[in-house]
Amino acid sequence: MAPPSHPTWWHTGVIYQIYPRSWADADGDGVGDLQGIISRLDYLSETLGVDSLWLSPFYRSPQADFGYDVADHCEVDPMFGTMEDFDRLVAEAHRRGLRVIVDFVPNHTSDRHPWFFESRTGRNSPRRDWYVWRDPAPDGGPPNNWVSHFGGSAWTFDEASGQYYLHLFLAEQPDLNWRNPEVERAMHDVLRFWMDRGVDGFRIDVAHAIAKDPLLRDNPPAPVPDDGYKISAEFSSQRHVHDMADPDIHPMFRKIRRVVDGHPDGRDRYTVGEIHEFDWERWASYYGEALDELHQPYNFALLLTGLDPAKIRWAIEGVETAMPPGAWPNWVLGNHDEPRIVTRFGWEASKAAAVLLLTLRGTPTIYQGDEIGMEDLDIPPERQQDPWGRRMPGFGRDGCRTPMQWSEGEHAGFSPPDTPSTWLPVHPDYPRRNVASELADPDSHLSLYRRLLALRRSRPVLQLGDIELAGEEPNPLAYRRILAGEDDLWVVLNLSDDAVAVPAAVAGRVLVGTDRGREGGPVPDTLGPWEALVVG
Ligand code: GLC
Repeated sequence: MAPPSHPTWWHTGVIYQIYPRSWADADGDGVGDLQGIISRLDYLSETLGVDSLWLSPFYRSPQADFGYDVADHCEVDPMFGTMEDFDRLVAEAHRRGLRVIVDFVPNHTSDRHPWFFESRTGRNSPRRDWYVWRDPAPDGGPPNNWVSHFGGSAWTFDEASGQYYLHLFLAEQPDLNWRNPEVERAMHDVLRFWMDRGVDGFRIDVAHAIAKDPLLRDNPPAPVPDDGYKISAEFSSQRHVHDMADPDIHPMFRKIRRVVDGHPDGRDRYTVGEIHEFDWERWASYYGEALDELHQPYNFALLLTGLDPAKIRWAIEGVETAMPPGAWPNWVLGNHDEPRIVTRFGWEASKAAAVLLLTLRGTPTIYQGDEIGMEDLDIPPERQQDPWGRRMPGFGRDGCRTPMQWSEGEHAGFSPPDTPSTWLPVHPDYPRRNVASELADPDSHLSLYRRLLALRRSRPVLQLGDIELAGEEPNPLAYRRILAGEDDLWVVLNLSDDAVAVPAAVAGRVLVGTDRGREGGPVPDTLGPWEALVVG
């Protein structure tokens, strides 16, 4: 478990995810924009102290899936601004030492992408094979049993040509055919386009789905269909062995990696793939045995384990043992697809969650607003936006996408005061939960995040050190971070509603605590419910 041989910004740094629609609206149309982001960059670099930002899609898009339906990969949607705004954003971010990661959406495009318009003109279109078209099954139905993540068949019939096209998400998001070398080349060109404009990395959307079974075989039934976490009964009734993660995906990632590493400016760039995989060996395979695929497959373990200490131990051990030598882990507690941390765990526990996220070994990603403890909002049906929630009640993601709460002013400071309304309602708790008021409160979530981020910056052991789990019992969750010969410290988290004894081995002074009153003092004998400490 050695530190990486050449640690760079994405090993040591913290990533902050911006969902551009909901972060800062400069032009007063109720939707966030690039100018808004530029105006708030100091918040990231100075107030918070993160190292990079990941922008969810801002490309030209009909917004059927809020930007994850791209109609032009190399244009800024006018709703978000212009290419000049983007160039300024990159320059301003770089000036502050912030790296810029953009979303790369390779699995599908919008049905209004010129490629798809051309593809659907007929069976002889030169771009027909850029998407996945098939004849109907003998009974006239869809070619196979694959289902869309958003409900219903993954196939839509095109009357004009008498064939079906594949879409693992909405019918407005037809899947590209990555087995066609022209598609692969065109998408590599998209990567080059953004690297030429100075971006430092790519978050690869639905990365695990770009390679499907070449024979498009039916998925087999799942042994025990389970209406589990974020998965509908329909989706979980199948084993998803043919509609995604075909072994041919590995050469595709190797090529993407060569394109990204091969940019002539030679900068250290980063790719992180959205890989929903909890079999740790399979998950780790996306690094590539020679570390020549993704820099990181996202590790969504904490979304599955919640704050159950036994399960978190399982995830830490699983991740750490499965990674190829030299690979670097990462941890995620929230994003624009998930219920928020406070909503999942409650207020007190969410503070312990912050300590966990920012002290585990690996690159953490913070989702906008989690640092001030924003909560999901129940959106009334008439204001619901997310197509998933509208098709499948209960699965909507609007709750975690409400506007960022900057101040107690009109629209929480997200939009200018005279803006008629914001695209999603602002959470009514904004007068007390907002950046400005939390900055003034040393006991706020934001203050805790700032102390943790400052500690990470000042102690390289938190950035690069090894991790050693301690203790016989799952709770308290205790681990040591060790930078051989240089530094070490302890993290101890009571992930329960009851007081718990601190293991005797945990020694030193409290550097950061969920209870600020402990800071600077000795290690207490017991931790209160959901109390967490960094000790060193
Ligand atoms: C990813 C995105 C999600 C989007 C989906 C389809 O899961 O994170 O927001 O709906 O891909 O592109």
